[in-house]
Amino acid sequence: MKFFIDSANLDEIRQAAEMGLLDGVTTNPSLAAKESAPYEEILTEICNVVEGPVSAEVISTDAPGMLKEADRLIKIAENIVIKIPTIPEGLKAISTLSGNGIMTNATLVFQPLQALMVAKAGATFVSPFVGRLDDIGTDGMDLINQIVTIYSNYGLETEVLVASVRHPMHVVQAAMLGADVVTMPFKVISTLMKHPLTDSGLEKFIADFKNAGKG
Ligand code: E4P
Repeated sequence: MKFFIDSANLDEIRQAAEMGLLDGVTTNPSLAAKESAPYEEILTEICNVVEGPVSAEVISTDAPGMLKEADRLIKIAENIVIKIPTIPEGLKAISTLSGNGIMTNATLVFQPLQALMVAKAGATFVSPFVGRLDDIGTDGMDLINQIVTIYSNYGLETEVLVASVRHPMHVVQAAMLGADVVTMPFKVISTLMKHPLTDSGLEKFIADFKNAGKG
């Protein structure tokens, strides 16, 4: 399973990249709004740090506008992925971009038929938002299960990118279901290796060794 960071913050992205496990980055307009630099500058910097796919989201809601934005964004670097909202106009833009060999990420996916449609349109990635589904009292992971099953039934190649991840159990469940990618905020990435029994166990090993006069 690939690990992406869901962030537009360069410090976080650098720290995650230093862990040596970072396969890509997803950004969105809300994440970009938290940073002071212009979006295209941030994306350029991110692409200097990360070799894998870097999702850059359009804000137009009509296909011609999305394609115009995509034209500018793809010039930033070869690893830019155009992130498009999963609406009817977005479907048209995904078809055109994928027909031209440009990577796309269909975002804001909340039900399985949206995922089927964007895969048929040739999206590189589909982004189901599990946390936001959990927030309204449904189980976001049910959607991942449905999409993974549908894609496998028809041999669809779009990668399932689990988004809106809020805690490490989302990552465990995504891995159990065979999702291709999980994009996580930095605070989730930093919990992935943690267990209190690892910390207390290590402390005891060192203390026992020292108390026996061997250290
Ligand atoms: C996905 O690509 C989005 O950027 C992101 O995961 C949304 O997460 P949120 O629901 O925590 O805002």
